[in-house]
Amino acid sequence: MRVLAIVGSLRQGSLNRQLAEAAAREVAALDPGAEFSILAWDDVPLFNEDIERPAPEAVSRVRQEVLDADGIWFFTPEYNHFFPGPLKNLLDWLSRPVSAKQGQVLNDKPCAISGISAGGTGTACAQDHLVALISFLNMRVMNKPRLTVPSGFSKVKDGKLELGDSQPYLKRQAEAFLAFLK
Ligand SMILES: Cc1cc2nc3c(=O)[nH]c(=O)nc-3n(C[C@H](O)[C@H](O)[C@H](O)COP(=O)(O)O)c2cc1C
Repeated sequence: MRVLAIVGSLRQGSLNRQLAEAAAREVAALDPGAEFSILAWDDVPLFNEDIERPAPEAVSRVRQEVLDADGIWFFTPEYNHFFPGPLKNLLDWLSRPVSAKQGQVLNDKPCAISGISAGGTGTACAQDHLVALISFLNMRVMNKPRLTVPSGFSKVKDGKLELGDSQPYLKRQAEAFLAFLK
């Protein structure tokens, strides 16, 4: 079982990246045979049809990682009640057919969604927008449960995220996603 996490923040110390790392620990505890990796995508260029073909090396690499995964787990920040623009850019690249013979790599791919934000929404608004996009791209979205973690910075101690009351919800989502992937 291969789970690929796509974290919508590129910043060092990202709360969403730390949430993905916590999810990796939950998955490892539930299924020691499962693989969990976090996609590196900070070298994916801004989408421009002028450079679409042949695909830039970074784009070919992320497409292959998505293809190789049994499921995608999104960890999205919330920017202005939306998901971040860089994540939209990545998804625009992934939404394009690989070739005349091969369609786009997100098609029919199962996915889960979590997020942590500074404010009270816990990324609920961003997640709803993300669901609209990835449903259009024909991903198989696990809508229940989704995880929203509000007031993210109140859960940081010495730079480290401590989920506290939210930890059991993350575990529950990991269990549900592993079952969803079977
Ligand atoms: C451009 C921008 C817009 C933001 N808008 C929201 C928002 O709508 N709701 C919210 O809860 N937090 C918002 N925030 C704060 C983020 O939740 C916070 O920066 C969070 O740590 C980002 O995720 P990360 O730690 O994974 O990078 C915004 C931050 C930025 C930079």
